[in-house]
Amino acid sequence: MKYEAVTWRRDKVVMLDQRRLPTEEIYVKCDGPGEVAEAIRNMTIRGAPAIGVAAAMGIALGAMKLRVKSVGRFKEEFEGICRMMMETRPTAANLSWAVQRMETVVRGHEGEGLDELRRFLKSEAMAIREMDIEVNRRIGHNGKRYIRNGSAILTHCNAGALATAGYGTALGVIRAAHEEGKDLEVYACETRPRFQGARLTAWELDKEGIPVTLITDGMSGYLMSKGVIHMVIVGADRISANGDVANKIGTYSLAILAKAHGIPFYVAAPLSTFDLSLGTGDEIPIEERDSREVTHPFGTQIAPEGVRVWNPAFDVTPQQYVTAIITERGVAQEPFEASLRDLFS
Ligand code: MRU
Repeated sequence: MKYEAVTWRRDKVVMLDQRRLPTEEIYVKCDGPGEVAEAIRNMTIRGAPAIGVAAAMGIALGAMKLRVKSVGRFKEEFEGICRMMMETRPTAANLSWAVQRMETVVRGHEGEGLDELRRFLKSEAMAIREMDIEVNRRIGHNGKRYIRNGSAILTHCNAGALATAGYGTALGVIRAAHEEGKDLEVYACETRPRFQGARLTAWELDKEGIPVTLITDGMSGYLMSKGVIHMVIVGADRISANGDVANKIGTYSLAILAKAHGIPFYVAAPLSTFDLSLGTGDEIPIEERDSREVTHPFGTQIAPEGVRVWNPAFDVTPQQYVTAIITERGVAQEPFEASLRDLFS
């Protein structure tokens, strides 16, 4: 792959600026944890696993840059940096998962000096990044069997290499089937209001020669009714213990449509996206974003001045609409509570 969503270079966290794709491929260099947090908030980097990786790197960078003389002071400042990362975006479970891993490093090395703590934190952030790529490859391996030769696959938002450290979750499954030589085509929903499908998924697939057709979000039902779509695969931002799935706004509508048309609906996600402390999807916090994303796409006003807007960034698909959840450890299916308990045991 000739691009990287997030990486570490010469003590900087470097990100491909996803706000400027597909027209410009520009990398942003973050010099400190505040810049990383802002990049997550303003969606320079986005996608649940990529957010987790970026936060871990931002924390490692922050630890390196702290000008403190005692371990006690270091720990106080470190906790502040972790809190700042946690406050960037509320829905993706991978964020708290990654932050907790970084906190565990410090907690697990009682008695170590400042240099050692900094070193351990940097290598943990690198390990989180490497692990994410490996996990996505395994998700791809576990999911490719669901894609039959000649399939037309609908996907929503971007759950690809751009949304992860590399390879992708939903697009990882598609990539794995494509690499195996299966004939397939992808229908990408444009994904209003931020157009991750149009700007990112179409770019990513096109770059690799995977056939992709872009549609507006409202077209999916018609395509299904015409028998054009054979399956749906999406990623996830947080999955509760019963298998309810929070993902990009519009996912729920696709799941209902898929059910109505007898089309399988798959979710591909790493174990780090699960939040087993939540019984159902009702408990998942849903981010609400600026109304200007809806009224002023790309800075152009398309709605009357002052119109009332509601802009939830995610929705929750109840598990009864999910055919299977593909993870790196295996595939969860109905009954999801038991199936997920097995996967995590
Ligand atoms: O708001 P975004 O672009 O961060 O939303 C991303 C999604 O909803 C993805 O589908 C999800 O994070 C899975 S990415 C592998």
